[in-house]
Amino acid sequence: VTALFDELAHAGAAHVGDAAASYDEKIPFDPRDDVRLLCELGLDRTKTLLDMGAGTGRFAVAAARYAGDVIAVDISPAMQAAFERRRLLLRGRRIRFVLGGFLSYEHEGEPVDFVYSRNAIHHLPDIWKVVALQRLHDVLKPGGVLVLRGVVFRFEPAETVARIEAYLAAASSDPAKGFTRDELEVVLPRKTFSWLMEPMLERCGFAIERARYGHDLYAEYLCRRV
Ligand SMILES: C[S@@+](CC[C@H](N)C(=O)[O-])C[C@H]1O[C@@H](n2cnc3c(N)ncnc32)[C@H](O)[C@@H]1O
Repeated sequence: VTALFDELAHAGAAHVGDAAASYDEKIPFDPRDDVRLLCELGLDRTKTLLDMGAGTGRFAVAAARYAGDVIAVDISPAMQAAFERRRLLLRGRRIRFVLGGFLSYEHEGEPVDFVYSRNAIHHLPDIWKVVALQRLHDVLKPGGVLVLRGVVFRFEPAETVARIEAYLAAASSDPAKGFTRDELEVVLPRKTFSWLMEPMLERCGFAIERARYGHDLYAEYLCRRV
């Protein structure tokens, strides 16, 4: 699989090299609501959690207090370095970081109870999203939970050009404070539609228990391995 798609080359410029060190300031995120959501879904010290595309570990480190084993996976060595800095600061001892990706991570040991992935799968084209989802499915226990977030367009075909123009026009003018139009344009071809993403999830063996969309641009899926 990895010979056909270079995950690191497509990981997004903001996530590799020197840029990774300032990613958290560029894109702020408070993980507490997501930690609460997983706890409501049954995360506790007896459960295992995999965070795919964990970045600097904002979610994984916050969730580790409430979980048993946590495995944080990311394709970017620069994110790994940022992750290790956070781990030192917050004593995230029960987290294992694995350098790998949706397509290249090889899970060892028992299947996990929870998979969480925020803003990472949208770096893959649809063919590889399907392979990624199928691999996440195989990592989960039957009945296990997948919480998946990312940019997903809930537009009708006839609206698409205008909605994408508006999406790009709303981009940040300051690369230190958000993604700029130029940055968004590079990754645009790897985005997908809600009316493709939902069947992709189902085809890969997930039951979608809840699908939420923000501004018809951003999706949160709460799924269970069937
Ligand atoms: C937008 S950041 C989000 C980081 C983190 N989930 C968060 O919400 O703060 C996307 C992350 O996905 C990682 N990534 C990109 N492509 C990936 C892939 N194919 N497999 C695993 N991680 C990937 C990037 O290195 C980056 O750390």
